[in-house]
Amino acid sequence: MTTVVKLTDYQLRVENVLNNAIPKAEDEPCLLHKAMRYSVLGGGKRIRPLLVYATGECFNIDKKTLDAPAVAIELLHAYSLVHDDLPAMDDDDLRRGKASTHKAFDEATAILAGDALQTLAFEILASDLHNISLKNQLKLINILAKSAGSFGMVGGQVIDLSSTNKRLSESQLENMHQHKTGALISASVMMGANCSDKLTQQQKISLEQYATCIGLAFQVQDDILDIESDTETLGKQQGADIDANKATYPAILGMSAAKEKTASLYQSAYNALSCFGEEANLLRKIADFIVKRNQ
Ligand code: IPE
Ligand code: IPE
Ligand code: MG
Ligand code: MG
Ligand code: MG
Repeated sequence: MTTVVKLTDYQLRVENVLNNAIPKAEDEPCLLHKAMRYSVLGGGKRIRPLLVYATGECFNIDKKTLDAPAVAIELLHAYSLVHDDLPAMDDDDLRRGKASTHKAFDEATAILAGDALQTLAFEILASDLHNISLKNQLKLINILAKSAGSFGMVGGQVIDLSSTNKRLSESQLENMHQHKTGALISASVMMGANCSDKLTQQQKISLEQYATCIGLAFQVQDDILDIESDTETLGKQQGADIDANKATYPAILGMSAAKEKTASLYQSAYNALSCFGEEANLLRKIADFIVKRNQ
């Protein structure tokens, strides 16, 4: 199987697992469950679950074992997008090519759907898992909690909101991106790795390095695409960062420096994987996809 076919295969797999993991729209409270399904299903690149599966491949972990962390990270991410789009935050009406959850439903339902998606992520991770030791399971829960919380994604969102209309230094910008986006990307890789009992210290450091680089590259590319792509391709409003005067890489360092940054992060991500052989080809492909994507 080529790496591209494998990625598509994993995307289909996670779609199916997500579909089964979220309560049915007919289950009470129907409106909430409908909003949860609307927010997660049918859209999204599924980069974070792909990272879970791709890292698991480096250690020959059974796909079935990886399903729970893959679903948990995507639910957590979907909740972060629902809240990110709220009027009190980025106030965006379009997400994944359709109305944002608070537009398709209402604000209160969007807030509550986000809350319930987050707790569902932890419920899944704390359930009976296939072929994983309790010690490793606890590690996965800890990684997800830390990366999502005040020292991770939520902390990054706070920095983002308080940086609007401000001129950040490059290190402040990097810190913000590492928190709001990098943390969940790193968690995806480290959850995949911690499904293994054979993770060595050197592999752990290499994967952390890879994840840090692609996590930052991912948000820099997101900032670039806000300027260079279009609304239809993005599935979200093009130019939203400029309209809101957001602190982004292109806004603060200029477009060519932003592009150089993604290229150098891509190179560092590749280098970080040098201690792995072919088993890390999917991780290499995801790095390619992140810097070359147009959505
Ligand atoms: C969007 O994430 C928000 C960022 C962290 C940049 P994605 O670009 O992964 O969004 P989906 O999941 O594919 O919609
Ligand atoms: C999103 O950053 C980060 C999180 C959702 C945690 P952005 O605000 O740049 O994401 P988009 O551009 O709305 O997808
Ligand atoms: Mg935002
Ligand atoms: Mg946003
Ligand atoms: Mg953005």
